[in-house]
Amino acid sequence: MGAKKYTILYIDDEPHNLTTFKATFKWEYHILTAQSAFDGFDILAEQEVQLIISDQRMAGLSGTEFFKKVVKRFPDPMRIILTGYSELEIIMRAINECGIYRYMTKPWKESDMKKTIEDTLEVYQLRKDKESLLQQLDVANKKLAAENTYLKEEIQQQQPVSTIITKNKAFQEKLSLIQKVATTNTSVLIRGETGTGKELMARAIHEASSRKDQALIKVNCAALPANLIESELFGHERGAFTGATQKRVGRFELADGGTIFLDEIGELPIDLQPKLLRVLQESTFDRVGGTQPIQTDVRVITATNRNLEQEIEKGNFREDLFYRLNVFPILNPPLRERKEDIPLLVHHFLEKHASNIGKRIKKVSSEVMEQLMAYNYPGNIRELENLIERYMIISSGDSLELTGWLPQQKDLPSSDGHFKTMEEMEIHHIKNALQLTKGKVFGTGGAAEKLGMNAKTLDSRMRKLGIRKEG
Ligand SMILES: Nc1ncnc2c1ncn2[C@@H]1O[C@H](COP(=O)(O)OP(=O)(O)OP(=O)(O)O)[C@@H](O)[C@H]1O
Ligand SMILES: [Mg+2]
Repeated sequence: MGAKKYTILYIDDEPHNLTTFKATFKWEYHILTAQSAFDGFDILAEQEVQLIISDQRMAGLSGTEFFKKVVKRFPDPMRIILTGYSELEIIMRAINECGIYRYMTKPWKESDMKKTIEDTLEVYQLRKDKESLLQQLDVANKKLAAENTYLKEEIQQQQPVSTIITKNKAFQEKLSLIQKVATTNTSVLIRGETGTGKELMARAIHEASSRKDQALIKVNCAALPANLIESELFGHERGAFTGATQKRVGRFELADGGTIFLDEIGELPIDLQPKLLRVLQESTFDRVGGTQPIQTDVRVITATNRNLEQEIEKGNFREDLFYRLNVFPILNPPLRERKEDIPLLVHHFLEKHASNIGKRIKKVSSEVMEQLMAYNYPGNIRELENLIERYMIISSGDSLELTGWLPQQKDLPSSDGHFKTMEEMEIHHIKNALQLTKGKVFGTGGAAEKLGMNAKTLDSRMRKLGIRKEG
């Protein structure tokens, strides 16, 4: 005889009937018996039951009265009532009111009872299967919906290719090392000042990996309130906390098979760090409020512009996690340490933004390039990119004009220690104005007007400073 899959609760106030029922069906089912509706309730409160069979006529609560209460508190089990013919009307009302699946007349024949129980439990099983299918469907739908919103957000920011541009020897050597590590599953920690291309690097690593056709899921730990990070990363079960009205699929689950990029990892709250460590070590995690560990196959790339060693000392970052993340460290150098890349980057950005700005600028005069190279870019490549975009919009011809060159005014001593004199600043400023007016000095739209100067004064000033109009 196989495992007894179902439990049946049989209620009758005649002990003899209970004994007979139990003796007849105990080989096939797990049988519980009760001599009153009240005892029946006690059992239901403690045990899972798939089918309740109750006699109608009992002292205390009748069978139908009992079932009316059962429906409210224990809606799950199927219900069968046993009755005599005379009570047909009561029974019919009961069937409508408390979801009784079958009624049987007493005394029952064994074969009838057997068949009824089997039919009823079959319906029970079908209902259960349907419920679980719907639930699976629901989870799948939620995952799909989450992926969709995520992808929509992503596509807006996505760049066509993650080319890292550099001719800096040291950085190039590092990039070829990165190509090698990209193909492994090793965790990578990318460090560097703001705007040095940490996110671009993370994408490049993902694209060079065997996971490139799977998702690259990005989470910015600094952009999320601390109390939401856990459920964002790991998801939550319905009812896990106030407001968790729906099950949520976390980013680690979405990234299964692909890569997760945890930006600003230094901002990950200390109490969540062990959970991340567990994913890294065991590839499992729990949803918030979940009881079943979830398995995930994810490559983890992290980035930070914080000094994590200092954070460890301050007690804000776990040392064990740091070592686990830092298996392959990458440091993106600041732009001021590889100024030779500026011309390449300038042309790259002119190309990159040509279509969205609707202007194709190809020429950059050596003077303009010099000016761009003299600046120190505290905001690194992002700052350079933003500047180029801005000047592209303002430029009227097919060469780049640095109208109202702003950063220059904040220029600190450049890397060679040279601090610009007032005269050099003046020359630049006048040249900028002339560029804007295409060499015109006098009259409306002329450089003098732009600079708020008397035209004759400007003209003599230009001669004194050696500025030619065509320049
Ligand atoms: N070597 C590079 N070649 C081409 N473009 C680059 C390079 N490095 C960075 N960029 C571009 O500069 C911009 C800023 O890069 P990114 O967002 O990756 O920097 P980040 O280090 O993540 O900055 P933050 O610390 O502020 O988050 C992006 O548009 C990126 O495409
Ligand atoms: Mg970034």
